[in-house]
Amino acid sequence: MPTGTFRTGGSTQAADSPMVVAMPLSSTASQLTPAGDPLLAAKFSVPVIPGTLVRRKRLLDRLTEGTAQRLTLITGPAGAGKTMLAASWAARAAVPHPVVWLSLEDDDSAPGVFWTYILEAFRHHRVPLPATVGSPARADSVERSLLVRFASALARLAEPVVLVLDGLDRVPDREVASGLDFVLQHAGPQLRLVLISRVDPLLPLHRHRAEGSICEIRGADLAFTRHETATLLRRHGVLSSAETADTLTRRSEGWAAGLRLCALAMQRADDPAAFARSFAVSQSAVADYLLAEVVDAQPAATQDLLVRTSILDRVHPRLANLLTGREDAEGILAALTHANAFVEPIGETPWCRFNPLFAEVLQAYLRSHRPGLEPKLHRLAAHWFAENGLIVEATEHAASAGDWEHAASLVLDHVALDGPLTGPDAHRMERLFAGMPADIPKAFPWLRELLELRPELVDGHPHELVNGVPHLDGPEHPAPVETLSDRECDVLRQAALMMSTEEIAAELYVSVNTVKTHLRSIYRKLSVSRRRDAVRRAKEFDLL
Ligand SMILES: Nc1ncnc2c1ncn2[C@@H]1O[C@H](COP(=O)(O)OP(=O)(O)OP(=O)(O)O)[C@@H](O)[C@H]1O
Ligand SMILES: [Mg+2]
Repeated sequence: MPTGTFRTGGSTQAADSPMVVAMPLSSTASQLTPAGDPLLAAKFSVPVIPGTLVRRKRLLDRLTEGTAQRLTLITGPAGAGKTMLAASWAARAAVPHPVVWLSLEDDDSAPGVFWTYILEAFRHHRVPLPATVGSPARADSVERSLLVRFASALARLAEPVVLVLDGLDRVPDREVASGLDFVLQHAGPQLRLVLISRVDPLLPLHRHRAEGSICEIRGADLAFTRHETATLLRRHGVLSSAETADTLTRRSEGWAAGLRLCALAMQRADDPAAFARSFAVSQSAVADYLLAEVVDAQPAATQDLLVRTSILDRVHPRLANLLTGREDAEGILAALTHANAFVEPIGETPWCRFNPLFAEVLQAYLRSHRPGLEPKLHRLAAHWFAENGLIVEATEHAASAGDWEHAASLVLDHVALDGPLTGPDAHRMERLFAGMPADIPKAFPWLRELLELRPELVDGHPHELVNGVPHLDGPEHPAPVETLSDRECDVLRQAALMMSTEEIAAELYVSVNTVKTHLRSIYRKLSVSRRRDAVRRAKEFDLL
């Protein structure tokens, strides 16, 4: 059955059903992503299968057998073909149960964040869970009672569901592992768990082995056979002898990613057989290959775009234009995604992203060949993301530029205008600021308190900021061209008294949104982007 619908007693639960209540996933709003954050959608979507995929029946059958039991484990090194195997299995019409897919990332390891994503994945894939399951209250922990409710809701499902967790190695948290094991134990046969990881997960695998309730697909199983290599080469339009396929399989040790790179290179090679003999699979060889064959083969404008946008986790054509200073990103990115090599679209959105290995190679190139450019690019990206309301990415890029003052001000202004960051966003910011160098100005330690979701500190403690943080709006400002309205002056006076948005609203008998609208207008008129700068400038111009 394809993912996306789930049968319970003959009815189908709508995607926007209120039955699952989850901690908000993102407090960022963006006009660029009207249908929701594409990165979030990508987390829950079964990855796209390339046209060059080799369907490996021996492995697909094992997955089908495995998911008849409670636990299936797919382990193997980077690029071994784990994700492709599970994705191609999930995309098959013959999959016996609904599939809930979640791709995990480094930021997902806090238990509260992890379980929020799991619950959201069920909602995304329209598997109905009762609202009473609830959602984690905190990012850094999860109550056992929630897992009990979740497990019993799963046990009551009308039919089994397959939960695929891809990239579990990125979540090396014991509490997460024990929670997963708990749910697996208590959900009964309705939950079929497929774990995909580069390393063995922290679950008690020995117990599952003793019970015979686990199916394991490991690196050696994933290695391409010479027949599969020959098929892969054919899919790339490379005609090769059995001997060439054999040589390549041995040299690459059946490593899927290496074989794919090799197949791409052989499309250009004059003598594929000689190429296969000389191909060495190592990190540096792969890097050399990617630069020589993929990057160098592109026109200069494309190369420049690739290198400059490699600092981004996801690329939007307008942002790419900003980073290159040209106007041609849309066409270049469309051509690159069409070529389907190392740039892939993110759903049906204008965004795309690079294969991580490819991005790494490009970033190394950027650092070594364009010294000093990287921080400038991060700074530009920070401003662009901020302008588009994507505050978390804006803050991360500001920090990557080493611009902690800007990073802090972005969070502060966001909290002041839009309220506290919640859920995974708050967690990402917590992690980000935990990595802040110790020698950053004194005003900053309390930011950590802010990020523990105590927004009242923003408005109750800004003296240090007003005095201690260098402002970014530049030393020279023109006098305001438009005068402030009486109401705006009222708002600004309250802001100068360090009152929060809510307090100002209460004081002036208006809504919080009205206060925000006034603040935005004040910022525009005073050519500033932050509350404290507005107060400072208003004082300079005797407006207060
Ligand atoms: N069955 C296949 N047919 C064709 N190409 C494949 C196949 N499996 C893997 N590949 C190629 O190898 C690359 C890496 O595969 P995949 O992303 O599945 O690796 P992985 O084991 O999930 O790696 P990671 O641990 O980094 O997530 C794919 O992008 C694809 O090019
Ligand atoms: Mg993978």
